[in-house]
Amino acid sequence: PKRWLIVPAAGIGRRMQAECPKQYLRIQSRFILDITLSRLLDSVAFDGCMVSLNPSDQWWVSTEASADERISTCLGGHERSDSVLAALQALSERASPDDWVLVHDAARPCVHPADLERLITVLADHPVGGLLAAPVSDTLKRGTGSDVPEVAETVDRRGLWRALTPQMFRYGLLTEALQSAGREQHPVTDESSALEFFGKMPVLVEGRTDNIKVTVPADLELAGFLLSRS
Ligand code: C5P
Repeated sequence: PKRWLIVPAAGIGRRMQAECPKQYLRIQSRFILDITLSRLLDSVAFDGCMVSLNPSDQWWVSTEASADERISTCLGGHERSDSVLAALQALSERASPDDWVLVHDAARPCVHPADLERLITVLADHPVGGLLAAPVSDTLKRGTGSDVPEVAETVDRRGLWRALTPQMFRYGLLTEALQSAGREQHPVTDESSALEFFGKMPVLVEGRTDNIKVTVPADLELAGFLLSRS
């Protein structure tokens, strides 16, 4: 099977309160999206890479990636899952149902090559696929919905994982699962949840906890520190 990379980068990053989407903030003078893409594409071989962009994107033209002939772009959608589906459709003439698709958040620049290789190796013969994930280490509380929340209960954290990316699935199954979730208006915040909703059981592959998603301003400094060491 072939191996494809999809990087949804069509989000507007409201939680970052910055003047541009988070994937276009800079770390050590490079765009986060450029760091993410070069770490992935320089680690393992892909048959193609599709990046979903926002229709009103004004930054892509200034990236290093826009001059990289390994990378194609398509227009993303309203939700992250729409942006992934648009990228899958843009690959449809080149991809087969059994091919692998790795989906990785544009805003996770600290992804480690060893994690990427392990994900690919562990899932190699699997019929569905799986995702990088990390066991939860904090004690989890469910809060009451009030303005000053109180603890309603402590949630048993045994067996709980945080979903990371990349997530790697068979092209055909991922496409069908995302389409089905869309039709049924099932909320999908990662690819795995679409597959689960479709009745499949993705594999959890333990990944490094420093594969953070840059979401709030403090994450930017942390990502800079993590990248300076690796
Ligand atoms: O907002 P969130 O942190 O979940 O976004 C995760 C990734 O999905 C980001 O790389 C973002 O650019 C992308 N995204 C997208 N299309 C959307 C929303 C988010 O490609 N409509």
